[in-house]
Amino acid sequence: MGKQTYQFSTSATDFYFADSITHLKEIIDVKHAVFITDENIFKAHLKRFKNSKVIILKPGEAHKNQETVNSIIQQLIAFEADRKTILVGVGGGVVTDITGYVASTYMRGIKFGFVPTTLLALVDASIGGKNGIDIGVYKNIVGVTKQPSFILHDFSSLGTLPETEWHNGFAEIIKHACIKDAAMFKELQQHSFKYYFSKKKETALLIERNAKIKLKVVQKDEFEQADRKLLNFGHTLGHALENQYELSHGQAISIGMTYASHISEQLLGFKQTEAVVKTLEQYGLPTYFKFDKAKVFDVLKMDKKRERKEMNYILLEKIGKGVVKQIPLNQLEKIIQSL
Ligand SMILES: NC(=O)c1ccc[n+]([C@@H]2O[C@H](COP(=O)([O-])OP(=O)(O)OC[C@H]3O[C@@H](n4cnc5c(N)ncnc54)[C@H](O)[C@@H]3O)[C@@H](O)[C@H]2O)c1
Repeated sequence: MGKQTYQFSTSATDFYFADSITHLKEIIDVKHAVFITDENIFKAHLKRFKNSKVIILKPGEAHKNQETVNSIIQQLIAFEADRKTILVGVGGGVVTDITGYVASTYMRGIKFGFVPTTLLALVDASIGGKNGIDIGVYKNIVGVTKQPSFILHDFSSLGTLPETEWHNGFAEIIKHACIKDAAMFKELQQHSFKYYFSKKKETALLIERNAKIKLKVVQKDEFEQADRKLLNFGHTLGHALENQYELSHGQAISIGMTYASHISEQLLGFKQTEAVVKTLEQYGLPTYFKFDKAKVFDVLKMDKKRERKEMNYILLEKIGKGVVKQIPLNQLEKIIQSL
């Protein structure tokens, strides 16, 4: 069991890459743990939860909301959870976001850790301490930044992950490549998700490489004053589409990255849109999408990257080099209309 500790501004996260959930008892006192998972994961991995206190959520983004938070808190009270209790989120990004949010607010904050079970959560959602919920169509509009105590990678959970969820995970991997790692982009161009689907060692390396890209960015800029903004490539439009059109997170940001590449072309002379689009499609992700521009802009303008009348939009100068461009809202509205 190899531990790597990452220090953040006020706390640290212990990382256990390519490990097994059976080692959890060596990391935490499982007697004082409450597990949070969703119905699909619980059914697929019943044995993991034997003899544990478990809170089982309805699966899906539609349940990443205040109602679920209230229900979790009621169950924590029923378990007589106290400040020494540790919450362990075993699941995809919905479970990890909501577990971190509840743990950060229950009794003014208790410890928490994650065992991510989707590719997307392994490479992105579980990392970095952003934990939040949606209010209606407004994604992650309520939340906190607080780091988990540990993140344990157990790849055996990927064995039950549906194929479409693999596609979704690749959206965040392609995002990392676009903003930070041109060499990884080249590698991704040479393969498809089927290659990784069948190659455990290569997938493990890809997961660790991506987790470390995110970790490095977050360590440098935990509270998103500069570089961390880049991780939102594809997310401004993506988030505005996600709940309005009931897209998965991966699909929504894939569409967001497609249009952000076109906007990069318009504003920065970016020349590799075709390569971005082709790679997204190679990994089973949607690219061009018909949407109601006015309705979507109405939600988009509430994005957390807006500062008064300007939006910090993430664009590409070239593959591997993301940049933050401040776009006045009235100009952005025209750009969105013209897409
Ligand atoms: N906090 C962050 O920094 C951050 C970053 C990226 C994304 N996110 C959030 O992550 C969420 C998306 O995460 P996601 O794509 O993991 O979605 P998800 O958590 O909804 O999981 C996708 C589906 O896969 C099922 N599932 C999960 N693991 C499984 C397994 N091993 N076997 C079988 N089924 C399994 C789930 O039940 C669900 O139906 C969004 O809410 C997004 O906003 C957060």
